[in-house]
Amino acid sequence: MGTKKEAVVWRVDPFQPDPGLIARAAAILRSGGLVAFPTETVYGLGASALDPQAVAGIFRVKGRPADNPLIVHVAHRRMVYRLASTVSALAEKLMDVFWPGPLTIILPRGKDVPPEVSAGLDTIAIRMPAHQVALDLIRAARLPVAAPSAYLSGRPSPTTAAHVFEDLGEYIDAILDGGPADIGVESTVLDLASPVPVVLRPGGVTVEELRAAVGEVRLDPSAAGAAAEGGEGEQAHQKPRSPGLKYRHYAPRAPLILVEGDPPQVVAKVRELAADRIAGGQKVGILACAESAGFYEQGKVLVAGSRRRPEQMAARLYGALRHFDELGVDVIIAEGIAPVGLGLAIMNRLRRAAGGRIHRV
Ligand code: TXA
Ligand code: MG
Repeated sequence: MGTKKEAVVWRVDPFQPDPGLIARAAAILRSGGLVAFPTETVYGLGASALDPQAVAGIFRVKGRPADNPLIVHVAHRRMVYRLASTVSALAEKLMDVFWPGPLTIILPRGKDVPPEVSAGLDTIAIRMPAHQVALDLIRAARLPVAAPSAYLSGRPSPTTAAHVFEDLGEYIDAILDGGPADIGVESTVLDLASPVPVVLRPGGVTVEELRAAVGEVRLDPSAAGAAAEGGEGEQAHQKPRSPGLKYRHYAPRAPLILVEGDPPQVVAKVRELAADRIAGGQKVGILACAESAGFYEQGKVLVAGSRRRPEQMAARLYGALRHFDELGVDVIIAEGIAPVGLGLAIMNRLRRAAGGRIHRV
């Protein structure tokens, strides 16, 4: 971990942030410091992407494995041409349709970009966030900003400034508080190295939206969320294409058990598992859909949102996982939903938080 300090927290209007505060945050980035900021997906921990020491600071304070590359955030297309050595017509099309927004594209890395940003890979992940605070900060700093989600590696991603402060407040310079993140799960990471683009991590832009815009799109085998077996930082057997995918991620402190299947069977199984655990003296948390929450008489039930409105569940997912930690539950039992649309990103996070603890009913 870095040297102990305490981050200053600046509250800003998410649509019209105070330029004076943005300028102060930008000055910290220009001098090599670390600033957490809101995006439409989750909060990011930003550093100058052109400063290897600042980038090293991100890895240090997060406890992030050195082989897990960062996403670089831009505010103008011309930043992309400086960061990437070539930009294909397909990449241009994707940027036209989805930027600013929750789509990260992987391009060949330009020679001016420090290799540390990409953990030594010859590619670079880039996105333009759809959040005024993020865009104003990047513009004011006149820098591309490398930013992973602003939490300790292995924890659920932060969707509020309070989450960031809880994990990283002692180790970073400033936090711009623009209120809760809108989408609540991270961006979709899309690899453009092969002729058919490959989704490495499902996220805020759905696979269905990508296919409607550019035709054929494949899913990396890990995209469903099966990659992370075993403990935090432990490597999966297969070498994943997105290095971040081999680590257990998105995990609350309590073990999470995921139950997948048709809703009536899921409810029955969750009830059975909860009853067993409670009989064994455990404090049980249940992450439920609005439609089924009423069926659980035991355990601490948190409602993620309607099964038919995965955007509600996405926005509340990480906050709910953190809330279970605050409640001090011994185990979390979560209902799965259909892995379509934004549901795929939600199930990817839940499956990976569960590790191998998945019941299919
Ligand atoms: O929504 C988001 O993407 C948030 C906000 C802050 O923008 N950022 C985020 O960053 O989630 P992070 O570092 O938590 O996740 C980045 C993911 C990791 O899975 C990483 O392995 C992958 O992107 N990635 C980054 N660069 C890559 C590259 N060159 N090739 C393949 N995967 C890459
Ligand atoms: Mg992350």
